Amino acid sequence: MAGPQTNSADETFGAATSFSIGGQAYDVIDHTFDVVVVGAGGAGLRAAVGCSQAGLKTACVTKVFPTRSHTVAAQGGIAASLGNMGTDNWRWHMFDSVKGSDWLGDQDAIEYLAREAPQAVYELEHWGVPFSRTEQGKIYQRAFGGMTTKFGEGPAAQRTCAAADRTGHAILHTLYGQSLRHDAQFFIEYFALDLIMDEDGTCRGLMALNMEDGTIHRFRAHRTILATGGYGRAYFSCTSAHTCTGDGNAMVLRAGLPLEDMEFVQFHPTGIYGAGCLITEGVRGEGGYLTNSEGERFMERYAPSAKDLASRDVVSRAMTMEIREGRGVGKEKDHIYLHLDHLGADLLHERLPGISESAAIFAGVDVTKEPIPVLPTVHYNMGGVPTNYLGEAVCPKGSDADAVVRGLLAAGETACASVHGANRLGSNSLTDLVVFGRAAALKCAETLEPHTSHADLAADAGEAALTRLDRFRHAKGGTPTAAMRLNMQRTMQEFCAVYRTGEVLQEGAEKIDGIWNGIDDIKVTDRSLIWNSDLIETLEYDNLISQAAVTIHGAVNRQESRGAHAREDYPDRDDQKWMKHTLAWTDDAKRTVKLGTRPVHTYTLSNEIEYIKPKARVY
Ligand code: FUM
Repeated sequence: MAGPQTNSADETFGAATSFSIGGQAYDVIDHTFDVVVVGAGGAGLRAAVGCSQAGLKTACVTKVFPTRSHTVAAQGGIAASLGNMGTDNWRWHMFDSVKGSDWLGDQDAIEYLAREAPQAVYELEHWGVPFSRTEQGKIYQRAFGGMTTKFGEGPAAQRTCAAADRTGHAILHTLYGQSLRHDAQFFIEYFALDLIMDEDGTCRGLMALNMEDGTIHRFRAHRTILATGGYGRAYFSCTSAHTCTGDGNAMVLRAGLPLEDMEFVQFHPTGIYGAGCLITEGVRGEGGYLTNSEGERFMERYAPSAKDLASRDVVSRAMTMEIREGRGVGKEKDHIYLHLDHLGADLLHERLPGISESAAIFAGVDVTKEPIPVLPTVHYNMGGVPTNYLGEAVCPKGSDADAVVRGLLAAGETACASVHGANRLGSNSLTDLVVFGRAAALKCAETLEPHTSHADLAADAGEAALTRLDRFRHAKGGTPTAAMRLNMQRTMQEFCAVYRTGEVLQEGAEKIDGIWNGIDDIKVTDRSLIWNSDLIETLEYDNLISQAAVTIHGAVNRQESRGAHAREDYPDRDDQKWMKHTLAWTDDAKRTVKLGTRPVHTYTLSNEIEYIKPKARVY
């Protein structure tokens, strides 16, 4: 079902273009905008609101109805040093995020995130997000992993602003409402196919397929903002929706641009065993804890100070260790218990109603009486499109490691700003979405005059995207997309897991390359362009497999342990050799990965805080 605003009053330019591909005519409907935003989750909507507020003619192209975007699933909250529940300071938030990133984050960008966070939350509050409240009527804030006070020396910070355990849901609905207040024009259930790049490397817009009626659309824009989320579905078990296929990342790879730090994949400690659904870290923030088969609160051994509120990579590794050493729970001794029954039914009802329901549905557990069976589950991609702190995509050019890619921006999980480095702290994601969605919009507003004319596109602009579409549409191989996808997902789950070794990763990389090459044998049975889910899933799979390849090749290459990348054969962080970002390019025709690097920003944005020097990361 298309949304009410789909493709109504936009301005088209020129006569419709038509391409003939493999004897098939593809008519193209042209659109002209100042800015086109791809994706309607938290980052995309915040960017769309900002651009349209600035008077820019803004399109938002989204493959799902905006309020179905994956931001809706974010539970625990949004980090900002409001200090409503104890003294707090943006500098402490910055310190925690740098430490959480295991010193791979760019400190100028992290300063920007931490400084802007309070304002971003107040803006959401004023726009109508129904935050939970303290007795005094202030925004309620809970503790989250790795969030501390006094530069890690003080007690846990209550910094995560929450709307019960449905914070993402509340934010997404509010942002969609705000975007309707302004003039952003939505193209709902349009699947983005590829970027349109000029000869000189400037992004000029994108191609998209309207899934409802099969029409092809070419969006010409001065600026394209990618906000297409992560690619959790490259794995078998993840908290991500089926729609999380990293379409923007893959478009960037096909445009000949690199992705950054893709080897850093976050496992959330508490996915429901067997189902993978998220149980928020907010549970541990409210006093929940993990136990092994001996009933031991084992986190006390791994993180004596922060315990269950250590950062996610630390907790996920500890859980994996307990299971490996035979102290897992259940018949197979292959998971861990999360206890919250001691918190009391009133608190659970008020603060954690969503997960109480999820636990009942997906684990058959009454959380007021029994623990939830949980297991580390793929949750977030730290890597993505390299950007500066203003949201502009960057790619090394000559001696400039941070050369801006003209016309292209990215925000949210798609982007690698890099505020999360090697490991993101829980509740910094929602902050990232709104802070950098806004930053990208501000950058567009600052550099664009609304409604200025556009240079002509090349005569063949968009043709490559249609050639790819046509190839998959008429694919006559012997292996259904679902079988190939499952093979990729199982391989990533097994060979690129919480703990890694060079040998296992290398074997996995070879398998992934084989699966990638196997795409020539893909089988699509539906040839239509109208609601062809077979074709859409195939395009998504093609997007996923290139990201799986850069992820596992990057992991083979990085011979150290840092954040979420835990190499058993290289157990230590190696700042001498590896304090640098990985860049990965693909050759889509040859199906190969090329790796490079980019320096980490070891400087801050202002003189209000000094560069935070690396040290041992203990919790
Ligand atoms: O646990 C959670 O509520 C997830 C939050 C996050 O990933 O930021």
